[in-house]
Amino acid sequence: MDTHSEPLDNPQIAAIARRITRPIVLVGLMGVGKSTVGRKLAELSQRSFIDADTAIEEAAQLSVAEIFEKHGEAVFRDGERRVIARLIEEGHGVIATGGGAFVDPETRALILEKAIGVWIDCDIETLVERTSRRNTRPLLKQGDPAEILTRLHTERAPLYGEAPVRIVSKNGPHAETATMILEAIDRWL
Ligand code: S3P
Repeated sequence: MDTHSEPLDNPQIAAIARRITRPIVLVGLMGVGKSTVGRKLAELSQRSFIDADTAIEEAAQLSVAEIFEKHGEAVFRDGERRVIARLIEEGHGVIATGGGAFVDPETRALILEKAIGVWIDCDIETLVERTSRRNTRPLLKQGDPAEILTRLHTERAPLYGEAPVRIVSKNGPHAETATMILEAIDRWL
């Protein structure tokens, strides 16, 4: 686990970034900040960024909520598996995935083999607060968001834990979390 040290300067970040040759794939529950932190991480390390949920929406020409509504979760998961395989194949620098992607055994195996999986973990209270800002997540409409997030955390933590790198996100600036990720990857490499 990461305790925080001095901020890295640009040459230090660049030196770490040069050692990273595989896509960095961010996994973790809804609301941990995979997309926002991922964008910052890509900017800092001068890599490209892509959001898998957005890529799925573009491929389907429907929002995630609409895919769940019209076709059901199983169809969404199928599309998610195919899109993430394509994004890894295309060699994007940083890929933010939807919270359920790494739960799929095939996707998990692919990420573990061809990318660097980074689990962003976070306390439930923060996740409830952050996810309440937008009403776009179908799984959180099925009951009390705090209960759902707590259950998903219990169910998924052992799987997210297969990612070789884990950091705990704090409420600080995204750049801080992004730097923590680079340092953690650097230690793991
Ligand atoms: C899901 C997370 C969502 C989205 C879908 C299902 C999940 O992505 O893929 O609503 O199963 O945890 P975010 O983690 O980006 O919210």
